[in-house]
Amino acid sequence: MKKQKAFIYKCSSCGHEEPKWLGRCPECGEWNTLTETSFQKNSSKKEPRLAAQTLPLAAVDPMEGSRIESGIGELDRVLGGGIMKRSSILVGGEPGIGKSTLLLQIAAAALTKGRILYVSGEESAGQLRLRADRLGLNADRSLMERIEILCTGNLDEIELVLNNVNPVLVLIDSAQTLFSEDASMQASRAVSGTVNQMKFCSFELISWVKEHDAALFLTAHVTKEGIISGPKTLEHMVDTVLYFEQNDRTSGLNGAVDCRFLRAAKNRFGSVDEIGIFTMGEKGLSQIEDTGRMFLVKRTETNTSLLPPGVAIAAVLEGSRTILVEIQALTIPAKGSISRVFSDKIDSGRVSRISAVLEKHLNKQMNHSGAGQDSSNEPEKVRFPGIRLSDQDLYVNVAGGIRITEVGVELALACALYSARMGLSLPANLAIAGELSLTGEIRPIHRLSGRVKTAANLGFASFLGPASDQQLQGLRSAKDINSAIKLFFNK
Ligand code: TYD
Ligand code: MG
Repeated sequence: MKKQKAFIYKCSSCGHEEPKWLGRCPECGEWNTLTETSFQKNSSKKEPRLAAQTLPLAAVDPMEGSRIESGIGELDRVLGGGIMKRSSILVGGEPGIGKSTLLLQIAAAALTKGRILYVSGEESAGQLRLRADRLGLNADRSLMERIEILCTGNLDEIELVLNNVNPVLVLIDSAQTLFSEDASMQASRAVSGTVNQMKFCSFELISWVKEHDAALFLTAHVTKEGIISGPKTLEHMVDTVLYFEQNDRTSGLNGAVDCRFLRAAKNRFGSVDEIGIFTMGEKGLSQIEDTGRMFLVKRTETNTSLLPPGVAIAAVLEGSRTILVEIQALTIPAKGSISRVFSDKIDSGRVSRISAVLEKHLNKQMNHSGAGQDSSNEPEKVRFPGIRLSDQDLYVNVAGGIRITEVGVELALACALYSARMGLSLPANLAIAGELSLTGEIRPIHRLSGRVKTAANLGFASFLGPASDQQLQGLRSAKDINSAIKLFFNK
């Protein structure tokens, strides 16, 4: 192959490379340290390669797509039934959320006879051993033998070990600590030193597992302010992207110490709707069994047959399971001339829309003050007041700090807002689910019967929801927001 001479500029202080000369190194900030270095670049004229082979679809081995169970039910749920062989999975999250712990627990629990390689560029072997002891892994000698530890971020060393050990599961902690000499040779295309290193090394590892019928986990730190450019650039290279997040501790879950959610942001081999719910305890991450109830607030007051005004219980879907969550609303006269919405667990656009629907459709057929002149011929309707929310500041929260994006929350949100504005309570044994259209109708939702049954199992005797063909015990159907409000508030 014809070689071509090319120049790059290398920093004598930190080794950073730039395609052009600069007075100051953008990496370490030193002045006048970039010096011209020559390197051999392959000529752009490529030698003719062998023709790539095609394969009839029928000849593809179906076992190529087989999965390894991670041994952690919540993780398998998020992945869509286990770790797909030849796939790569990115686990992002803030420092301290439990990425390294999760990786070590996967190493311990994975249902495979093959070897497992845990590569840490962040911690020493001693630190890993301490964590393993804390997780109680030392009780199982054969398990401790099976997990191979390598403490480096150097890709060349990792590749050597990979070829020697031939693991079925490769766990890399973290992508940000990976580096390789080869990556810096591609300096002319470098975006920034570390991002380029991370992309290059991750790509090499992703290719390795594809060729060797293994699976790869890569962790990546994400800052509190959001997803920094680093891990984001890996998203398109991997098959699955999981983000680990924590509920906000200040919202004080009853009983549960803390809870951490594992969500899929991308999943080539499953849905992105499932979440894994964990809690971090003395012995690492554990799964929460009774997720249906975990977000409900326990109340100890004597009168527990009614909820406080402003509270409604929603039965929402999180992937394949139903969870019951407490929607809390507060309305106070707007301080400014315009009404504002403060809601970070439910999209504030949704809150504005639901409050507009309430104001419009409850007022339409109802007497505004509830006491004045009747404007309708139906006396039953006018007994019941409409409400004004456009002059109010609206605060909405979800107890337990879980984010709710499912559309079935809308009817419960409407009830919570109405309850808050009117100071009227809902029964404590009522669960609610339904979608609200702009015309005030209650629209059907997915898996209504599953929601009603889960709620009934958790002690919610009645359920407010859309009309259903099925006979569901406890279900009170309403066709629009007027009749829904009337069913439970119009005493
Ligand atoms: P870690 O897995 O190191 O988080 P990350 O790799 O995402 O930065 O650990 C997270 C936190 O969990 C750490 O503060 C220590 C704590 N922890 C426990 O509470 N119990 C345990 O059993 C372990 C292993 C860690
Ligand atoms: Mg870590």
